[in-house]
Amino acid sequence: MDAAAFRSHFPVLDSLAYLNAGTDGPIARVAVDAAAAELRAQATEGRVHSHFERRRALLTDLRAAYAGVLNCDVAELALTTSTSEGIGGVLGGLGLGPGDEIVTSDSEHPGVIGPLLAARARGATIKAVPFKDVADAVGATTTLVACSHVNWLTGELAPAALKEVPVPVLLDGAQGVGAIPVDVRELGCAAYAGSGQKWLCGADGTGMLFVDAAFLERVSATRPGYSAFEDASRGLDSTFSAEARKLDAISLPREGVALSLAALELLTATGLEDVQARAATLAGQLADRLRGSGRTVAPRAATTLVAWEDADPEATRERLAGAGVGIRNLPGTPYLRASVGAWNDESDLDRLLSALDAAAG
Ligand SMILES: Cc1ncc(COP(=O)(O)O)c(C=O)c1O
Repeated sequence: MDAAAFRSHFPVLDSLAYLNAGTDGPIARVAVDAAAAELRAQATEGRVHSHFERRRALLTDLRAAYAGVLNCDVAELALTTSTSEGIGGVLGGLGLGPGDEIVTSDSEHPGVIGPLLAARARGATIKAVPFKDVADAVGATTTLVACSHVNWLTGELAPAALKEVPVPVLLDGAQGVGAIPVDVRELGCAAYAGSGQKWLCGADGTGMLFVDAAFLERVSATRPGYSAFEDASRGLDSTFSAEARKLDAISLPREGVALSLAALELLTATGLEDVQARAATLAGQLADRLRGSGRTVAPRAATTLVAWEDADPEATRERLAGAGVGIRNLPGTPYLRASVGAWNDESDLDRLLSALDAAAG
C-alpha cells in the first residue's frame, strides 16, 4: 500500500500525532464529504419518501459491507449503534436468569460489564476470571462466555481455546474489527459485536452485531424497531424477521451511515489486509521503543493497542495533548494507551516518545 497517500486522507494527522482509534478512529475527507452530501440533500430535498428510500439503501449497503468485514452472511448481521448495544442486545435477548452462569474476564469494558450486571440482577451468576483463563473456566454449569476479542486494557487476544468450548461465545470485538483480521467462522463464536467509529473510522453511533443463524433463534428482540418486522403493516399480527436484523438499532442517521460506508470503502480500496498488517507492525515498533526507553509495556499480542505504565497517567495524557499527541489513559489502571493505525507513521511515534520524555522531565 502507498502509506503516505493513505495517511493524506486524514486531516487530523496534519496537526496531531493521532493515536486514539481505540476510542474513535480518524475521519477521512471522503467520509466527511459523503456525510455532508447526505445532509445537504436532506436540507434541500426535504425528508419525504425519497429520504427514507435513500436511508434504506445506505443501510443495506452498510449491512453488506460489515458482513464482508466479519465474513458472515448478510442475514446474520444486525446494524447497531455501538459494540455496547450489540452486547446488550444479545445478553438481554437471551433472557438469562437463575440457573445460568456467564463466564467473563476480570478486565472487560463497561460495555460488557453493564449488560452482565443487568443479567446478574435477573438472577444469573457471573464468573469473572483472568482474561487468559476464560476458556478454562467453562464448566458444567456454564451457559455462555462473554468477553473481549482483544483486551482493551492491554492489547492481548482472547485464548484460541474459546473456539472449542461447548457453550456459545459472545465476543466484544470493539478492539478487533478493523484493527486485526476477523473471521467469525474461524473464531467459532456465536455472536460478535463491533464498533463502526473505531478502527473502521466511521461515525459515532454506528456498529455491527454478528449472530450465528442457529444461535439467533435463542436471542429475542428486546427493543424491536421498524426493521425488525417481517411486515410492519400487519399491526399486532406482525412477526419479527428470522434474520439478525430483528436486533437492529431502532434508528440510524442517514449521514452517519453514509460516513461509515465511505470510510469503509476507503479502507477496503486501500486493502484492509495491508492496512491491518501495517498497523500491527507500527504498534509492535512502538512497544519495542517504549521498552527500549525503560518503560513497562503491558503484556500484549500482535494487535494495534499498546499500553504502558506511567506514574500519573491522567496528568501525562494532558501534557501529551498539549504537545499535540492524542492518546488516552485507562481509568483504574497505571496505563496510558496508544492506538496505532495504518494512518500513523514513524513521525507520530517519534512525537509520542519525545513528548513522553519531556513530560517525564
Ligand atoms: C473492549 C471495548 N468494548 C466496548 C467498547 C465500547 O464501544 P462502543 O462505544 O462502540 O459501545 C470499547 C471502547 O470504547 C472497548 O474498548
